[in-house]
Amino acid sequence: MSPGTPTDVLVVGGGVIGLSIAWKAAVAGHAVTVVDTRPGHGASWAAAGMLAPVGEAHFGEDALTALNIEAVRAWPAFARVLEHESGMAVDLVAEGTLLVAVDPSDLAATDDLLDYRRTLGLSAHRRSARECRAAEPLLAPGIRGGAELVDDHQVDNRRVVEALILACRSRGVTFVEDEVVEVTTGTDGVTGVVLGTAEALAGTVVVVAAGCRSGQLGGLPEHVLPPVRPVKGLTLRLRAGDGVAGLRRTVRGLVHGRSCYLVPRPDRSVVVGATVEEKGFDTTVQVGAVGDLLDDARRLIPSLEEYELVDITTGLRPGSPDNAPIVGRTGIAGLLMATGHFRNGILLAPLTAQAVAAMLDSRHGEHDGQGPFARFGPARFASPVRSGTGPVDGPSTGGAAPSDVGR
Ligand code: FAD
Ligand code: GLY
Repeated sequence: MSPGTPTDVLVVGGGVIGLSIAWKAAVAGHAVTVVDTRPGHGASWAAAGMLAPVGEAHFGEDALTALNIEAVRAWPAFARVLEHESGMAVDLVAEGTLLVAVDPSDLAATDDLLDYRRTLGLSAHRRSARECRAAEPLLAPGIRGGAELVDDHQVDNRRVVEALILACRSRGVTFVEDEVVEVTTGTDGVTGVVLGTAEALAGTVVVVAAGCRSGQLGGLPEHVLPPVRPVKGLTLRLRAGDGVAGLRRTVRGLVHGRSCYLVPRPDRSVVVGATVEEKGFDTTVQVGAVGDLLDDARRLIPSLEEYELVDITTGLRPGSPDNAPIVGRTGIAGLLMATGHFRNGILLAPLTAQAVAAMLDSRHGEHDGQGPFARFGPARFASPVRSGTGPVDGPSTGGAAPSDVGR
């Protein structure tokens, strides 16, 4: 593969990551095929669409937070071109998020996180309870206070994946509705994939973007498979009927130690999220999880009582050992990884697509060690013995972020 030569790019997985990569690769002139049984309906469908570098900044994750800040800045241009090519609005709202605390210890935890976020240079301004309620009148009277997170925005993730599918099709991307069971390799690197039907597809580049299942593909040596695991999450979609006041602002709350967020959409619906559970590949909806989430949401916004419950979705976040994405070249020529985006895959999609598209033009890694994902490549885990693998920033939390204690 030399720069400028059309490449047969096979993308395994059509979530927000695979679709964004496929689209950008097709724009760059590559011949692209996406394989997925149901594109767009994995974690990317369950997500809330927050673009939240500040709200998702956790102790010890400085490098990841810097990446997330760069990612939110990439969104306006990405959304503009995507809307143009798909003919569909994706409802990017660059308005900032209100962080609120329900009890005194929630407020103390919020203040600690605010201090940390400020040390990273992030825009987070403390707000009194009165100021919070002025910004969002539907907030419960008992709210203790909070902060304005200026850099946390949102987009409609479901519209994004639908728009990406349209944009891919308009650029000639082929969709194969099947699953990949094996990646095939030869002496010069990857040669293609084998589908569930046993049909083989040839390709000079294979991009693994299979979300939480990226570590389960056949045909690859153990040390090349990314160490991703499923982290279950539940979101609810509620809608304000006629005569019921709609939520104005995206609200993140700490509710007696548990985190909860509410993301309003232009159609007066609200996405409420989310649970964070280590339950393997289980995607069942449990009554207790729905009940807890609704209880917490109503503690923040009591009038949700009157909303209609229109949708319940579970999804599996692709978690990595250090909570950071795994993007880049592997030890096998032509095999690229784009996975492990955990809680920020919607946020990171434009930057990931841009980085992977750049890698397609340099089979031997001329530009490796540069760019936003230089610290987040597969090499940090590519050892037969993974137990000694350290995190990018500091001590690994091994999963759910500190502010998600109990959820
Ligand atoms: P997915 O969307 O899961 O897509 C992977 C695709 O691969 C699937 O379509 C699947 O069918 C396919 N696949 C799997 N195995 C194979 C195979 N063998 N062959 C072919 N195809 C295969 N992120 C944010 O930025 N903001 C948020 O507000 C946010 N909220 C979230 C809320 C919840 C409840 C959850 C669960 C996640 C949330 N996330 C959020 C995280 C975000 O959704 C993920 O990081 C992102 O969707 C990952 O995208 P992906 O394309 O890697 O995975
Ligand atoms: N980023 C929100 C979530 O993963 O729930």
